[in-house]
Amino acid sequence: MKPSRAPPFFLLLLFLLSTATTTSAATTTNATKPANPTKPTLSPTPSPTSSPTPPTTKTPSSSPPTLDPKQIEALQSLNIPTTRDPCIQPSPHNATTCDSSKPFRHLISLHLSNCSSDFSLSFAALKSLSSLHSLSFTNCHASPIRFPSDLSLSLTSFSCIRSLRRLSGIWLSRFVNLTDLTVSYTPVNTTGLYVILGNMHKLKTVTISHANLTGSLPKHLHLNLTHVDLSDNKLKGKIPISLTLLEDLEFLNLSSNGLNGEIPTEFGDLISLKNVSLASNSFSGLIPDSMSAIPGLFHVDLSKNQLNGTVPRFFSELKGLKVLNLENNELHGVLPFNASFIKRLAVFKVGGNANLCYNHSVLSSKMKLGIAPCDKHGLPMSPPPSKDSSGDSKSDSSDYDDDGADTSEKEHHHGPSKVVLGVAIGLSSIVFLIVFLVLLSKWCG
Ligand SMILES: *[C@@H]1O[C@H](CO)[C@@H](O)[C@H](O)[C@H]1NC(C)=O
Ligand SMILES: *[C@@H]1O[C@H](CO)[C@@H](O)[C@H](O)[C@H]1NC(C)=O
Ligand SMILES: *[C@@H]1O[C@H](CO)[C@@H](O)[C@H](O)[C@H]1NC(C)=O
Ligand SMILES: *[C@@H]1O[C@H](CO)[C@@H](O)[C@H](O)[C@H]1NC(C)=O
Ligand SMILES: *[C@@H]1O[C@H](CO)[C@@H](O)[C@H](O)[C@H]1NC(C)=O
Ligand SMILES: *[C@@H]1O[C@H](CO)[C@@H](O)[C@H](O)[C@H]1NC(C)=O
Ligand SMILES: *[C@@H]1O[C@H](CO)[C@@H](O)[C@H](O)[C@H]1NC(C)=O
Ligand SMILES: *[C@@H]1O[C@H](CO)[C@@H](O)[C@H](O)[C@H]1NC(C)=O
Ligand SMILES: *[C@@H]1O[C@H](CO)[C@@H](O)[C@H](O)[C@H]1NC(C)=O
Ligand SMILES: *[C@@H]1O[C@H](CO)[C@@H](O)[C@H](O)[C@H]1NC(C)=O
Ligand SMILES: *[C@@H]1O[C@H](CO)[C@@H](O)[C@H](O)[C@H]1NC(C)=O
Ligand SMILES: *[C@@H]1O[C@H](CO)[C@@H](O)[C@H](O)[C@H]1NC(C)=O
Repeated sequence: MKPSRAPPFFLLLLFLLSTATTTSAATTTNATKPANPTKPTLSPTPSPTSSPTPPTTKTPSSSPPTLDPKQIEALQSLNIPTTRDPCIQPSPHNATTCDSSKPFRHLISLHLSNCSSDFSLSFAALKSLSSLHSLSFTNCHASPIRFPSDLSLSLTSFSCIRSLRRLSGIWLSRFVNLTDLTVSYTPVNTTGLYVILGNMHKLKTVTISHANLTGSLPKHLHLNLTHVDLSDNKLKGKIPISLTLLEDLEFLNLSSNGLNGEIPTEFGDLISLKNVSLASNSFSGLIPDSMSAIPGLFHVDLSKNQLNGTVPRFFSELKGLKVLNLENNELHGVLPFNASFIKRLAVFKVGGNANLCYNHSVLSSKMKLGIAPCDKHGLPMSPPPSKDSSGDSKSDSSDYDDDGADTSEKEHHHGPSKVVLGVAIGLSSIVFLIVFLVLLSKWCG
C-alpha cells in the first residue's frame, strides 16, 4: 500500500507546479510586452484601405470597385496594392479615404508610410490625385518632385515625417490652402520661414521641427494659428512682439533653437496658451509677469536659457499648471512656493540656478529640489547638491514619491520590477516546497 501512495501525491505536486509556472509566465509577458499587439510591419509598401470618415454606408458586397479607375492606376504606379477596393473599410493603416461622389468615388486622403526603397513619385500619378485634401508621408524617402498645381491647391493638410529627403521653402510655399502643415526630421532649406508661411492664409497648425531650419521668426504670422512647433532647428534672433497677437495660440514650442533676447513683456497676451516651451535657447532677462494673465497654462518649460531675476510667485496661482521647468537658468532669490503647490505638479524643476535657494522653514530638504537652502539673508547657504545636475532625465519627478503625490507616471517606474521580483520569489518558494515535499515523501516511504 505504502509505495502506491507516493506517485499520485507526486503528480499532484507536478500539476501544481505547472499551473503556477504558466500563470506567472503570463503575468511576466503581460508586464514586459509593448502595448501594441500587432505583428511587425508587413512590408515596405503601405497598404491602402478606406477609413470611416466619409459618411458612407456601402457594404463590402456592392462588389464593383467604386474608386475612379484613373486613381486606381495612380495608386498602382505608387506601388500601392489595389486588389481590394481602397474605398472599402476596414483599414489596417487608414491609408486611404474616399469621398462619396458618383459614379466614381475619389480619394480625399492618402497616407504613405514605410515605402519601399524604389518608391518614387510621378507627376502623372500625382496629377490624377488632385482630389486629395490630405497627403502625408512617413518614412518614404522618394525625391520630392514638382506637384501639379491642382493638387498643390487642393491640399488642406500636408505632412512629411522622415520623408522626401529634403524640401525647399519655395516647394512648400505652393500649398497655399493648407490648414495643417507638418514637416519633421526632414531638412528644409529656405531663406526664412516667411517664404513658407507667407501665403498660407488659412493655416491653423504648423510643425516644422528637427528640420535644420534657418533664419528668424517671421514678423507676421497668421492670426488664426493655434499650434506652432518650430522646435529643434537653427532659428536665430528675437521673438517678434507680433507673435503675442496670436490670441488663439494654444501650443508654442520654440525649444532647441538659437533664439535670444528677452521674452516680450506682452507674452501674457497669448491668452489661449496651454503648453509652451522656450527651452534650450539663449533667452535672457526676466520671466514676464504678464504670464500670470494666461488662465489655462498647463505645461511651461523655460529651462536651459539665461533667464535672470527672481522666480515669480504667480505660478502658484495658476490652477491648471502641471509642468513647470525652470532649471539651468540664472534665477536668484528665495523660491516663493510652498510644498502643497510643488506636490500638486507632475513635474517641477528648478535645479541649475546657482543663486536660487529655498526657505527651509517652508520646504523640506527631502524634496530634493536641486538648490540649496537659504540663509537668513535669502542667499544660498551651501553649494547646491550636484546630484541633480544630470539634467533633463524625467526620473526627477519621482523625487516626491515619499510624500504620496500621485501621478501615473510615477507608478511606471516601479511596476515591472516589482512584478518580476514577486514572480521570482513565488517560483523559488514553490520549487523549494516541492523539493522539500518530495524528499519528505521519500523519507516517509
Ligand atoms: C494580462 O492580460 C490579460 C488579458 O490580456 C488581462 O486581463 C490582465 O489584467 C493582464 N494582467 C496584468 C497583470 O496586466
Ligand atoms: C483608423 O481611424 C479610426 C478613426 O479615425 C481610428 O479609430 C482607428 O484607430 C484607425 N485605425 C488605424 C489602424 O490606424
Ligand atoms: C512603419 O514601420 C514602423 C517601424 O518599423 C512601425 O512601427 C509602423 O507601425 C509602420 N507603419 C505602418 C503604417 O506600417
Ligand atoms: C485654393 O486657393 C486658391 C487661390 O489661392 C483658390 O482659387 C482655390 O479655390 C482654393 N482651392 C480650394 C480647394 O480651396
Ligand atoms: C541637421 O544638420 C546636422 C549637422 O549639420 C546633421 O547632423 C543633421 O542630420 C541635420 N538634420 C536633418 C534633419 O537633416
Ligand atoms: C539651399 O538653397 C539655396 C538657394 O535656394 C542654395 O543655393 C543652397 O545650395 C541650398 N543648400 C542646400 C544645402 O541645398
Ligand atoms: C479666423 O478665425 C475666425 C474665428 O475662428 C474666423 O471667423 C475667421 O474667418 C478666420 N480667419 C481666417 C483668415 O481664416
Ligand atoms: C501639453 O502638455 C501636457 C503635459 O506635459 C501633455 O500631456 C500634452 O500632450 C501636451 N499637449 C500637446 C498638444 O502637446
Ligand atoms: C518641444 O519640442 C521638443 C523637441 O521636439 C520636445 O522634446 C518637447 O517635449 C516639446 N515641449 C512641449 C511643451 O511640447
Ligand atoms: C538680467 O539680464 C539682463 C539681460 O541680459 C541684464 O541686462 C541684467 O543686468 C540682468 N540682471 C541681473 C540681476 O543679472
Ligand atoms: C500654498 O500656496 C498657495 C498659493 O500661493 C496657497 O493658495 C496655499 O494656501 C498655500 N498652502 C499652504 C499650506 O500654505
Ligand atoms: C522663511 O520663512 C519664515 C516663515 O515663513 C520667515 O519668517 C522667514 O523670513 C523666511 N526666510 C527667508 C530667508 O525668506
